[in-house]
Amino acid sequence: MKKIVVAIDGPAGAGKSTIAKLAAEKLGYAYIDTGAMYRSVAWKFLQTGKPFDEDFISGLSKTMLIDFKPEAKINRVFVDGTEVTDAIRTPEVTAIVSRVAAIGAVREAMVDQQRRMGEAGGVLMDGRDIGTVVFPNAQLKIFLTASVEERARRRYAEMVAKGQQVDLQQLQADIAERDKQDSERAISPLRQAEDALLLDTSDMGISEVTERILQLVQERA
Ligand code: C5P
Repeated sequence: MKKIVVAIDGPAGAGKSTIAKLAAEKLGYAYIDTGAMYRSVAWKFLQTGKPFDEDFISGLSKTMLIDFKPEAKINRVFVDGTEVTDAIRTPEVTAIVSRVAAIGAVREAMVDQQRRMGEAGGVLMDGRDIGTVVFPNAQLKIFLTASVEERARRRYAEMVAKGQQVDLQQLQADIAERDKQDSERAISPLRQAEDALLLDTSDMGISEVTERILQLVQERA
């Protein structure tokens, strides 16, 4: 069976990472979490303590080396050799990442790395613009979504399980705001590619969605 490129796009908290990672493991594909790459740029910028400056952030993004080391339960992320797996998931990073990801030069640097990571095929990549910009010729494109209420509930359960204190209403408002910023930005906004299959997972379990994706890959590969 030939190894294809699978593009999975969708809004925050639709379950893209969990499902893409599981499906990639079953297929023996590489899993690339492009959100983690934009988060890494935001993290590196916050480390500097400098005020928000597009040129400065663009400069940082061009010299960063982002690496993934998938393990059984987590997808470890490294920036220039330093592990940032947890550091890129803090509320501070989440609050600023959409502004960082709206900078054209940052996107160019990340898309460049993403194309290199996926050019040989056998890759499952998730994000916001994979099917529209990064791999417009991907053999399989999926747009994964769920209602904002359901996405907030899932994130809430995940955070509570980690012992974090969160307010469900606030979380839902933050997710809605991030969706708005990602969908309304000028460059590579979040949208479903014309040839992407829509999967609304509001009433679907993780294994059901994963199975459906595996089936689709088998049909296309
Ligand atoms: O997927 P995750 O929620 O971790 O992504 C964090 C942010 O990175 C998104 O809200 C979006 O602003 C940005 N992003 C993007 N393009 C991608 C992946 C993520 O702009 N391909």
